[in-house]
Amino acid sequence: MPSIISQSVTSKLTSAAIFLVVTLKPETQNEDAVRALCSDMASLLRAIGFRNPDGRLSCVMGFGSEAWDRLFGEPRPAELHPFREIKGEHHAVSTPGDLLFHIRAMRMDMCFELATQIMSRIGDAVMTEDEVHGFKYFDARDLLGFVDGTENPVDQDAIDTVTIGDEDAVFAGGSYVIVQKYLHDLKAWDTVPVEQQELIIGRKKLSDIELEDAAKPIYAHNVLTTIEENGEQLEILRDNMPFGDVGKGEFGTYFIGYARSPDRIEKMLTNMFVGRPPGNYDRLLDFSKAVTGSLFFVPSATFLADVSVGPSSPSPAADVPGAGTSDGSLGIGSLKGEAAHE
Ligand code: HEM
Repeated sequence: MPSIISQSVTSKLTSAAIFLVVTLKPETQNEDAVRALCSDMASLLRAIGFRNPDGRLSCVMGFGSEAWDRLFGEPRPAELHPFREIKGEHHAVSTPGDLLFHIRAMRMDMCFELATQIMSRIGDAVMTEDEVHGFKYFDARDLLGFVDGTENPVDQDAIDTVTIGDEDAVFAGGSYVIVQKYLHDLKAWDTVPVEQQELIIGRKKLSDIELEDAAKPIYAHNVLTTIEENGEQLEILRDNMPFGDVGKGEFGTYFIGYARSPDRIEKMLTNMFVGRPPGNYDRLLDFSKAVTGSLFFVPSATFLADVSVGPSSPSPAADVPGAGTSDGSLGIGSLKGEAAHE
């Protein structure tokens, strides 16, 4: 039975990343350029990645709701929809995005080269909505000074967290991803005493140790982003990256969260922006403004490899009886798959 290989959603944290969000121009011929890129992606990754195997180059390609219909039509992933803005104590905006490229490597030159090659293929067919170059900041800290990513699920947990299974069997091996670009008011944040910052995050700043439950306020970030269903915690996989432009006074966090269902990420966002209960919102947002917000579906690498140019597209995994969840990932361009966790 052919197995489904996922894209490299669960690849390990890297020291560099490019987050590229583009929209498709209206002319129909542009869709072919994107379809051609889908099936070429593995070969591009192989060519650039092979020049420095230690660089761990990977790329996850995601599709927005409207782009999915234009590029692939039916069937469509069960939970794919445009990102819904949230207006609460703070505003989670919804901004245009047809394609997401989440490019990761240990070196920015590799990310840059892949982004360049991608755009040389589809540049005429798309408009760039947003491009962010993220970097690892010391011991995986965000620019607010806290270690970011500690409670991410790992190994099989990470795979189970992000990989669609029988709930949408045609798209097994896929994932959903939400991205938001946040800009921080660091001047204001720096006036907040460290003890108060720690209450806002729910962890110690220097040591990254989690506060005792009894010591956490109900508005702590790690309280509001902990959600349960039937007594079980619903997790997401994050790979946030700092970015900035010192000369412009721009200091930010690019939030990226993957899950097998977008619903759990949306619940976390509602808790943060509206509050749980309403009004008890995430104080992090008093210092961090979301300036973008988009939702994408991440098909399996197997799906991408099978995309053909022209209006008819593959029926993803429909002919793979009992296609289960993936156990591998598209790493450096090999559809044979390397282990999901290097
Ligand atoms: C300005 C943007 C954000 C910053 C700076 C930020 C920062 C942090 C930090 C420092 C932690 C604690 C360490 C860790 O476990 O990673 C954390 C935890 C977490 N964050 Fe965020 N975050 C941001 C946005 C978001 C958003 C938008 C979501 C979800 C929609 C989210 C979901 C989570 C989750 C699930 C945890 C782990 C909670 C736990 O189980 O303890 N974060 N974040």
